[in-house]
Amino acid sequence: MKILVLGNGGREHALLRALSRDPQVGELHAAPGNAGMADAATLHPVDAADPAAVVGLARELAADLVVIGPEAPLAAGVADALREAGVAVFGPSKAAARLEVSKAFAKDVMTAAGVPTARARVCADRAAAEAALEEFGAPHVVKDDGLAGGKGVVVTEDRAAALEHAEACFAAGGTVVVEDFLDGPEVSLFVVCDGEHAVPLTPAQDFKRIHDGDAGPNTGGMGAYTPLPWLPEGFVDEVMDRVVRPVLAEMARRGAPFTGVLFVGLAVTARGPEVIEFNVRFGDPETQTVLARLQTPLGQLLADAAAGRLGADRTLEWSDDVAVDVVLASAGYPAGSSTGDVIEGVEDALALEGVDVLHAGTARNEDGALVTAGGRVLAVVGRGADLAQARERAYAGAERIRFTGAQRRSDIALRAERGQITVPERSQA
Ligand code: AMP
Ligand code: GLY
Repeated sequence: MKILVLGNGGREHALLRALSRDPQVGELHAAPGNAGMADAATLHPVDAADPAAVVGLARELAADLVVIGPEAPLAAGVADALREAGVAVFGPSKAAARLEVSKAFAKDVMTAAGVPTARARVCADRAAAEAALEEFGAPHVVKDDGLAGGKGVVVTEDRAAALEHAEACFAAGGTVVVEDFLDGPEVSLFVVCDGEHAVPLTPAQDFKRIHDGDAGPNTGGMGAYTPLPWLPEGFVDEVMDRVVRPVLAEMARRGAPFTGVLFVGLAVTARGPEVIEFNVRFGDPETQTVLARLQTPLGQLLADAAAGRLGADRTLEWSDDVAVDVVLASAGYPAGSSTGDVIEGVEDALALEGVDVLHAGTARNEDGALVTAGGRVLAVVGRGADLAQARERAYAGAERIRFTGAQRRSDIALRAERGQITVPERSQA
């Protein structure tokens, strides 16, 4: 199989790593890729969000499968253009991608499908936002109803700050979703879907805030781990029954069957799993940990999903170990980022046992040196027999890597390692 991966983040580097372990995968290509992905694939300087350019590249390469990493190409209809051109593609249509692109659409689908989620109001002006804040009370949750790279959501006790965020969205010509606060630990569950059937990957947890102790603004994600030792038994089956299958059926009923990864962001509340959000792609940095543990050949799995032949009884194989990743971000992230800072120590980190380094915002300068080229720069993955060992390895790797202004959290997976994550007691029968 010849596979083209679209994107240039840590998630796409992890996809390439996993695809290259699949004996059925021959050539790997990526567009546009990053400095690290060049080791695993041939890079092509093509805009991943330009449907015509991607179709042109896929044809030129005679790719057997195109795997779309980020949301922007999906929102731009790249999957539709490839399907129309007769190219197999793993990723949802533009119509199905609305589950991520519009939070209001996602709420509408969830309501129609009877999926447990926070009560919400879509607001187009200040008066509506004020009424909704009043209705739901604190903590307040205000979401930009559009793609914001995980940064468009404000969760705050401060009503004035909640209103200020809503006003900023209105001023930019948008609407907001105001919703109930969901109380409970968060889970990222990725489900591979073929339009009709679905198979879940191992659940992971992401760390969204920039600073230790979940302080500071939201980011794309500063670290992750999998599996989750504190998750109630039967949790994934319950999410498949109460969320994934009803949503797949509802999307098919609307003429927008879902093919690709349905990323279900959940809170484990006293009422059971409730949906915080959907994304229509693998999560970053969770994927770097999830795929590190996947033993089932990934290329065949994604090709089967793309072709609608997953079937009802698909199961996946996982290694017994635990994976933790720590993101190294550049100076100024998440408000901005710093480019051109020379990165040292990646080889030293890679030489450690159970450590992998996946590239996100990296590039080569004129001298061929590895430099920062974005907000999230690298994800250092540690694998071990338990959370303590996986964390120790991820942090030992992270400590080997240096660049000016590097930021990282020191508490990724720490509360889980200490057994401090508690799930609210189930309140309903
Ligand atoms: P989203 O972009 O919808 O995933 O929101 C980003 C982050 O905001 C989530 O990962 C949660 O930490 C938080 N969040 C969003 N919605 C809620 C909610 N209804 N209740 C509690 N936290 C939320
Ligand atoms: N880490 C969360 C996301 O990929 O949206």
